[in-house]
Amino acid sequence: MASILLISASPYGADSRGHRLADQAVANLIAADPSMQLKRRDLTVLPEPVLARGYADAVVGGHAHDVPAFTLSEELIAEIEQADRMIIATPMHNFTVPAALKLWIDQVLRIGRSFVPQDGWKVGILADRPTLIVITSGGRITGADARQPDHLTGYLVDVLATIGIRDIRFIYLEGLVHADRAEAIVAAAQDTLAADPVFGSPVPA
Ligand SMILES: Cc1cc2nc3c(=O)[nH]c(=O)nc-3n(C[C@H](O)[C@H](O)[C@H](O)COP(=O)(O)O)c2cc1C
Repeated sequence: MASILLISASPYGADSRGHRLADQAVANLIAADPSMQLKRRDLTVLPEPVLARGYADAVVGGHAHDVPAFTLSEELIAEIEQADRMIIATPMHNFTVPAALKLWIDQVLRIGRSFVPQDGWKVGILADRPTLIVITSGGRITGADARQPDHLTGYLVDVLATIGIRDIRFIYLEGLVHADRAEAIVAAAQDTLAADPVFGSPVPA
């Protein structure tokens, strides 16, 4: 049975406009295939708020995958492995990923489990799958009008490629600080989503 993993990293939870667009993508996928199962992972309520020493020791020491220090990491990696479609909804925080998403990254990129070293490079060993990343930001982060660096987009591309995920598309809701433009920003993002061949509006039968 096909499944969707929806990862959200906004402190605003379901009130986040990025989260709402991600929900729309989920609805599209389920409309196209009603048997699809949904797994939600809210990163703002992970059971471990920061990386523990035991986890760091286990990573650096190359411990077996079944040691207790890897319990959360194994759970998060398994969620990816089980997902045919992945959606990440995240705000930009100080030019990059929020701390909650960075914690997920540190649990999911694991040597010998989700990537292996090869000729000094890190090579992903998870299967690729279509992945949608919805980014929200107060200011603009793409195009000539951007007045801030974007350490989020390229970083997430590198992170996901490291575990083997390259089939990625981004949708931006940027400039949301301008309340008078927010509605138009959301509408444009909805249009971009609708046009996506995987996550967009299902083609009528
Ligand atoms: C701690 C913090 C840092 C932020 N840093 C940035 C930033 O670097 N660039 C930016 O454009 N917006 C920044 N923002 C604004 C958020 O990206 C913005 O509120 C976003 O629209 C929230 O989207 P959401 O509703 O999906 O959570 C920051 C917000 C917070 C709380």
